[in-house]
Amino acid sequence: MTTTTRDVAKPCVIFGGAGFIGTNLAARVANSGRKVRVVDNLARPTSAFNAAWLRETYPTEIEILRGDVRDPQLVEDAVADAGAVVHLAAQVAVATSLVDPRHDLDVNLIGTFNVLEALRGRDVPLVFASTNQVYGALHGVPLKEGARRWEPTSDLVRLRGVSEFAPLQFSSPYGCSKGAADQYVLDHARCFGMPNVVLRMSCIYGPHQFGNEDQGWVSHFTIAALAGDPLTIHGDGKQVRDVLYVDDVVDACLEAITEARVLSGRAFNIGGSPRHTSSLLELVESLETICGRNLEVRFEPARTGDQRFYVSDTHAFEAATGWAPRIPVTTGVRALADWVTAHHPRLAPNRRQSWPKQSQPRWAPS
Ligand SMILES: NC(=O)c1ccc[n+]([C@@H]2O[C@H](COP(=O)([O-])OP(=O)(O)OC[C@H]3O[C@@H](n4cnc5c(N)ncnc54)[C@H](O)[C@@H]3O)[C@@H](O)[C@H]2O)c1
Repeated sequence: MTTTTRDVAKPCVIFGGAGFIGTNLAARVANSGRKVRVVDNLARPTSAFNAAWLRETYPTEIEILRGDVRDPQLVEDAVADAGAVVHLAAQVAVATSLVDPRHDLDVNLIGTFNVLEALRGRDVPLVFASTNQVYGALHGVPLKEGARRWEPTSDLVRLRGVSEFAPLQFSSPYGCSKGAADQYVLDHARCFGMPNVVLRMSCIYGPHQFGNEDQGWVSHFTIAALAGDPLTIHGDGKQVRDVLYVDDVVDACLEAITEARVLSGRAFNIGGSPRHTSSLLELVESLETICGRNLEVRFEPARTGDQRFYVSDTHAFEAATGWAPRIPVTTGVRALADWVTAHHPRLAPNRRQSWPKQSQPRWAPS
């Protein structure tokens, strides 16, 4: 059984709904005529900007609740009348997780457990945003070095990407907390019959993203390039990722909600797939075209645990739902650049007044 009209009459609750993916998802759900409840503690200063934009744009369709997923009572109240739940709230940076692993554990694992327990015994579709980091550094995938990118020596991996059959290998506190949460979500589906779906996301980019050195590299590079800052690359810049435009990930979340009762208890890799990939050096070239000038690039030593190659094999989700990543990298990066130019306070200073006074964002100096 897929989503029912009874589900749709009830609000879609989005934990972390003022974040990058959450804002795009909330806007799309509201545009479809469904009520949305965003629950976010605005831990990221930039989320206050997104929340203000959602409030202005959807004054009646979207309710915004400032709250923390670590608070079990708040979570229970937030989902009391939910028709669907998407759990995106998280501490999202590996580097931050190394500085304060307990905070990372509390938000990412205990917060997710609170969501699961609030929904246990109910028949409410739950979509959880997991990460490709659950597969670790993928040392078992032999690579060859090209002029601008690393490539797998195996044609199978090059043409299909990394599937859900890759062994789990949690690494870094962030990898452990997200990986443990991923397993809890699947296990609650098995033990309690909950309609839970896990989406293991690769690199997502697009409007409403405020990337920094630690998370969201496509957005970080785009903002820095347009602002005239030098770009810092850790390692040789040949690291390859599949990159997925946010509209495509929103489509995936909506498919997962609709089909949650069929897909229950399964985890899917979601990303650009081998059709939409970029190395860091290749992104720099795209940005040089967009900016119409050469960019200053500085090289720093590689970061520990950085995957040289990660591309998602998305066949399982495509076969299960008909979803496919649609937006080419050049189109998506240009759309992101247009949004940054029009809305980012460093590029569009006349927009500054729409930043909430108490939560001015801290700009990564880059
Ligand atoms: N963006 C990506 O490339 C990517 C890749 C893999 C996985 N993911 C996962 O997708 C989800 C969303 O990512 P995003 O890029 O939109 O990140 P984001 O940081 O923009 O959004 C996360 C939101 O969660 C909120 N939040 C943090 N702690 C909270 C708490 N204790 N209680 C309530 N809200 C809290 C933040 O304020 C923020 O608005 C995360 O779970 C992330 O791990 C994202």
